Amino acid sequence: MSGSDRLFDDAVVECPHAYFGELRTDDPVHRVEGTDAFLVTRLDLIKEVVADPARFSSRTGEFLFCDQDGVAGLRPPIGEAGHDEDVLGILATADPPDHARHRAVLSGILSTASIRSREDEFRQLVDAALDPALAAGRVEWMGQVAEPLPMLMVTRLLGVADEDAPVLKAQGYASVELIGGFAADDELPALQAKLVELGPAIEAFAAARASSDPDPSTVAGLCARAVAAGDLEEVEAFGILAILLAAGGESTTSLLGAAVRALADDAGLQSRLRSDPSLIPAFVEEACRVEPPFRGHYRRVVVDTELGGVDLPAGSRLVLVWPAANRVAELGGEAIDVERPNPRQHVGFGWGPHLCVGAPLARMEVRVALERLLARTRSFTLEPGAEVRHHRSLMVRRIESLPLELVPAS
Ligand code: HEM
Repeated sequence: MSGSDRLFDDAVVECPHAYFGELRTDDPVHRVEGTDAFLVTRLDLIKEVVADPARFSSRTGEFLFCDQDGVAGLRPPIGEAGHDEDVLGILATADPPDHARHRAVLSGILSTASIRSREDEFRQLVDAALDPALAAGRVEWMGQVAEPLPMLMVTRLLGVADEDAPVLKAQGYASVELIGGFAADDELPALQAKLVELGPAIEAFAAARASSDPDPSTVAGLCARAVAAGDLEEVEAFGILAILLAAGGESTTSLLGAAVRALADDAGLQSRLRSDPSLIPAFVEEACRVEPPFRGHYRRVVVDTELGGVDLPAGSRLVLVWPAANRVAELGGEAIDVERPNPRQHVGFGWGPHLCVGAPLARMEVRVALERLLARTRSFTLEPGAEVRHHRSLMVRRIESLPLELVPAS
């Protein structure tokens, strides 16, 4: 199906990089036809936006979509359009000063040091998932590894039991699907119903609230402590739990898919990383630079202003198109290079005050999964005839299925 802007074309949704590259060069603040939304594709302009929350607010509740007739517009995930002021600004959708207060709840538990202590736990999960796959000589990487494991880690982080991971995964995926631009009208009620299925996370929070000494090693416990100390409202705690489900699962899943696909396509790079695993962290950065899991995040224009010479009326939206900015020549262009200096300068994890707070966890998960896959195989390749397609979304770039043939290490 084709929408009013090429953004919605099936071929562009499947592989947006050529279109994003054209915009970056010719029209870096591009108005999406028929809407008040602008795609920002240049690195310097994206950095200008994220640094100025007084002009460009994260508190935005409407998202691009394209209906079945190909007509583009903006709509909220739930409820009526035109109520941005009602959006509860929580963490990802908060501005100063609330944003720093919300973020403080998570910064310790998601810090690099704290995540390091969970590395063995994740390695065991990966090895357990790889055991049957290696015995079979094949794996459907997305379904068997990339989809379940990151959400299991988020579930544990929240303080929820493993068996509840699938329902939380469905909730997290539904919340991204609702803002992904292509959910049909008749799909909305079921997706919106899933949105409120936060049950296990709310129960963990309620149990922590009832405790005299909430467990500080879980997000539920940390939220309960912050509420008890008067640092957080209860509704803000619910919002933080929900955001972690939306932000922490499908994103890492997508990067796990993109990274393994890149290696399956490039036997030389694969064997280089296998023989020198110290290059894996740089490869993780390069995979996130060239194929960032999020196609963009939104900002709302607070006052009439201009960006890159384009007038922006108050109330219009910006989409910060991370993948476009990441492929600029100064960051390395289109190709993966594991010896690039300063590999973390990309914006795949965002930039500025909202820089991904879960990046240490995501980096650890992707690195460990690659380390184990490479160490336990002599090679892996895409199954002959397999067609690799991405989920149809304006928000995420996630491979739907990645069947691999595995040659186990002897
Ligand atoms: C490869 C995986 C991931 C990628 C590519 C990614 C990407 C991003 C990006 C681009 C932003 C900035 C959004 C903006 O500026 O509006 C962001 C923010 C955020 N991410 Fe991630 N993310 C990943 C994994 C995770 C994980 C594992 C978690 C949590 C467990 C997480 C939690 C968050 C949160 C809570 C925010 C909002 C931070 C704030 O507003 O201060 N992310 N992420």
